Amino acid sequence: MSEYNLNGKVAVITGASKGLGKAMALALGAAGATIALASRNVEQLSEVKAAVENVGGNAQVFQANVLEEEQIRRLEHDIMKAFNGVNILINNAGINLRKQLVEFTLEEWHRVIDTNLTSVFLMCRSFVPHMKGRGYGRVINMASMMSRVSLPGRAAYSASKAALLGLTRALALELAEEGITVNAISPGPVATEMNTALLQDPELNKQFLSKIPLRRWGRVEEVGHLALYLCSEDAGFITGTEILIDGGWTAQ
Ligand SMILES: NC(=O)c1ccc[n+]([C@@H]2O[C@H](COP(=O)([O-])OP(=O)(O)OC[C@H]3O[C@@H](n4cnc5c(N)ncnc54)[C@H](OP(=O)(O)O)[C@@H]3O)[C@@H](O)[C@H]2O)c1
Repeated sequence: MSEYNLNGKVAVITGASKGLGKAMALALGAAGATIALASRNVEQLSEVKAAVENVGGNAQVFQANVLEEEQIRRLEHDIMKAFNGVNILINNAGINLRKQLVEFTLEEWHRVIDTNLTSVFLMCRSFVPHMKGRGYGRVINMASMMSRVSLPGRAAYSASKAALLGLTRALALELAEEGITVNAISPGPVATEMNTALLQDPELNKQFLSKIPLRRWGRVEEVGHLALYLCSEDAGFITGTEILIDGGWTAQ
């Protein structure tokens, strides 16, 4: 049982088929929210729906590629038809292509920027109008500690996540009078599929762990609980900012 109660709230989560999106769906679902699970992979989304139901929550599956404006418009239409309103929007879908800047093709650059940043613009443009007029709302954008610091090979990723913080601040100001808060969560390394290459390479894994003061990878549940807190009434005075959850990486 969660100490927070999101009964009656509808939450849209992109990238909900695995990793952090799944963990946030489970945390919010267990607290009573109804979850609209969105991503491209319907099979995996269906497994997440079953997992949310297993913790006592409700969820529905919606297929959408966040790179496609038309698909986001259809997502908006389908979700509004199903739920007649949205209270929480979690823009979590994201990708990371790790290579030197000079090796990026323009297509690869656009793919990272469009998945991690432009999709958030499109999702907010579609769903924010449905969140207004309710006196409560939460937008959470999944940024990264790579918005603040970086590593070789992360030019597109860091650029996309740093820009997402700018979007977060501006939208928070636009929505403040509606009682809708807009914040970013910036995780450090969390053990998800996105990091399989790092987790499976003993040398790289060792290098990463040596840079994390807490000497471990983050757990997806820890990000799930942080998102739940941001959705709670207790977090109602937090807006336009970023919460780092990085094991101390950026404190160095
Ligand atoms: N894990 C970390 O260490 C870490 C650290 C900092 C920030 N983050 C951020 O947290 C978010 C989630 O990361 P994760 O580690 O959970 O990654 P993940 O396990 O690779 O999951 C990524 C999710 O994004 C979805 N996605 C990707 N491209 C999409 C598209 N074009 N349309 C719709 N959905 C798309 C995927 O769904 P489908 O494949 O089913 O479409 C999947 O559900 C990302 O924004 C990432 O940048 C992660």
